[in-house]
Amino acid sequence: MPNPASMRRVFLIGFMGAGKTSAGKALAAQLGWRFQDLDDLIEAREGATIAAIFTEKGESGFRELESRALKDLLQDAVQQSDLVVALGGGTFVQARNRELLEQAEAVTVLLDAPVEELMRRCQTESRVRPLAREEERFLELYKQRQPAYALARHKVQTLNKTVEAVAGEIAILLSVRPEVRK
Ligand code: S3P
Repeated sequence: MPNPASMRRVFLIGFMGAGKTSAGKALAAQLGWRFQDLDDLIEAREGATIAAIFTEKGESGFRELESRALKDLLQDAVQQSDLVVALGGGTFVQARNRELLEQAEAVTVLLDAPVEELMRRCQTESRVRPLAREEERFLELYKQRQPAYALARHKVQTLNKTVEAVAGEIAILLSVRPEVRK
């Protein structure tokens, strides 16, 4: 039996620069739901920025913290609905995280744009992204991650769209097909 709460909860996934946080905030405002950003949660729990965590613990250390934060968030959210969550760009790429989301019957929406546009957005933002420092690695990572991203429940192209328009499209997807696919 699908968990009815999962229908009023959505997880935004996608590469760095896809606009998960900004579209997520706009979507939460449009729906009157709460918004949670997984990276913000990790930073608050660790008392350190994502960049500092990468420097101190490496990517594998960060991935451990990320999985733990996701697990706790999903457990906390069992009784909750009306929630928009922006995951990090690599969260959904880890099989163990996809399993956690599947068990929670999470509705996932991939936000995407051409990689050149994603890079442009990351370069113009002030936030430090450890995996966006080298252009070649950024391109390679984007390619590598496509098979995992393809497993998202819904997909939304964000190129040349405002944050509000992207949020509106997600809201429509949620109301048109609110059922949870196993
Ligand atoms: C990462 C993306 C970042 C953050 C971390 C790792 C990734 O989040 O979680 O730097 O592996 O793509 P955003 O996608 O919100 O930038």
